[in-house]
Amino acid sequence: MVLRDRRVDAWTRYPEGPIGAVWMVRRGDQQVDVFSVTCPHLGCPVEHLATEQKFFCPCHEGLYDEDGGIVSGPQQRGLDRLETRIETVNGEAWVGVVFERFELGTQEKVSLG
Ligand code: FES
Repeated sequence: MVLRDRRVDAWTRYPEGPIGAVWMVRRGDQQVDVFSVTCPHLGCPVEHLATEQKFFCPCHEGLYDEDGGIVSGPQQRGLDRLETRIETVNGEAWVGVVFERFELGTQEKVSLG
């Protein structure tokens, strides 16, 4: 999923547009896990291997399970899980995501905002 939002910096207010991408894994009617598509090793985009129910990073062959845990590869931590909230708006369920970027190549998940 591509995330869209409005951005504001010290001088400019940007119109709504893409700010990042995530993988969403539905766990039930009211639960979804959301992971950053950015590999925490060195930042390549992670693919989903539907037949194997895994996530794969082609840059250094990092492999993750569907809970974001490490299966194999050089990465020091699992996929970065993002905070989510499911809201019902006009009878439709919407998933809100707190989008953050994290430091790469570290064992600890350190937010860069
Ligand atoms: S950037 Fe993903 S395994 Fe290296």
